[in-house]
Amino acid sequence: MYNGKTIELPVLSGSCGPNVIDIRSLYNETGLFTYDPGFTATASCESKITFIDGDEGILLYGGYPIQDLAEKSDFMEVSYLLLYGDLPTPQQKKEFIKNITMHTMVHEQIPSFYRGFRRDAHPMAIMVGVVGALSAFYHDSLDIHDPRQREIAAYRLVAKVPTLAAMAYKYSIGQPFVYPRNDLDYASNFLHMMFSVPTEPYEVNPILSEAMDKILILHADHEQNASTSTVRLAGSSAANPFACMAAGIAALWGPAHGGANEAALAMLQEIGSPARIKEFVNRAKDKNDPFRLMGFGHRVYKNYDPRATVMRETCHQVLKELNIHDDPLLDIAMELEQIALSDPYFIEKKLYPNVDFYSGIIFKAMGIPTSMFTVIFALARTVGWVAQWKEMICDPLQKIGRPRQLYTGVAQRPFVDITERR
Ligand code: SDX
Repeated sequence: MYNGKTIELPVLSGSCGPNVIDIRSLYNETGLFTYDPGFTATASCESKITFIDGDEGILLYGGYPIQDLAEKSDFMEVSYLLLYGDLPTPQQKKEFIKNITMHTMVHEQIPSFYRGFRRDAHPMAIMVGVVGALSAFYHDSLDIHDPRQREIAAYRLVAKVPTLAAMAYKYSIGQPFVYPRNDLDYASNFLHMMFSVPTEPYEVNPILSEAMDKILILHADHEQNASTSTVRLAGSSAANPFACMAAGIAALWGPAHGGANEAALAMLQEIGSPARIKEFVNRAKDKNDPFRLMGFGHRVYKNYDPRATVMRETCHQVLKELNIHDDPLLDIAMELEQIALSDPYFIEKKLYPNVDFYSGIIFKAMGIPTSMFTVIFALARTVGWVAQWKEMICDPLQKIGRPRQLYTGVAQRPFVDITERR
């Protein structure tokens, strides 16, 4: 009831998760907007790709629990699942891998882009630039209304982002760029491009490539998070797919989002010893201190992030494989987790470790520099962004995203000439 008028708003149900109030007629019927800064209770779209139950700590890609996919599947199968809605048959998997493999090289002009950056440029700055620049090279996959061009753009993005990411690392250390190899699997190819040098053979450690593949699965998609919503909003204006993914990379960079893995490792290094954990936990609880525990808390998970559990197990496997038995950062992380999870503040606010808490320790153990952590997150999330972008483009109800506002600025007033201003 508003202004004496009663209106009915339908409630829509999905296959899982909360029902939604369909407010599409609200403004026309009442002149009212809804108000939800940060979209804490707003469903921005209908989607069939990923489901999260934050209270139960459940994450499903195409209905399959993330734990099962991490344990029993691989990143190429999961990429197919996100893009096409189900796990591939053996033949579908073979064809999909071939399509990705045949697009892993980048145009020979693209290395010139890197040479315009300083060697100490943050690799995420490079990634935002070069992924967006792909649209200048692949004019045959920019027509978003052509299903075939959308599919080729999807292949190119999933295939080329690891190549561009490894090039950003090589550029930062002054080593030559390494071409992808068609005989390696996706994760092994990335590690090969990151760590091999032209002067000697390089054998990818299968334990590390398996761990990397698992990490890519865990980061592949996550419903309508900040960077995915950015990709959808950019895509809703009919921008080309490469520009949309560059927007997603930019949004992911923030330390409140994908940049948290880099920030979490820096925090563990700043804590420095278990003796200082309490000091940092107290700072995180202090309302007057902007410090937050990086790698803790989540907008949706009010239970353990199921990805963090898998990441912690993978962390122990990788450190064991690399004979790193007393990693002080892992000791601090494990101790911090125990202290935080038993602290009434964290219990009351339901703050648990998230996917970013352990990833930095694994990447550091693999010899990956901190500045590359979020780049790897972007590499993995590219397939999720592309899947969500494709779903949005194909949605018959899709229209340009254009939120409104609650205006609290100055109401209309007459212009004042500069001679009259005091
Ligand atoms: C990712 O959305 C996704 O799905 C993201 C992601 C994905 O896969 O795409 O899962 C990846 O981004 C994981 C999150 C990585 N970020 C961090 O680890 C940074 C640290 N975490 C916080 O910045 C925070 O928890 C957020 C940003 C993740 C979530 O913040 P919300 O949901 O906006 O919640 P909030 O900031 O309103 O916090 C609720 C309360 C606040 O206290 P009150 O104002 O109620 O008194 O909890 C407190 C916050 O102060 N709080 C924390 C905290 N996180 C929240 N206090 C201390 N340390 C923290 N980490």
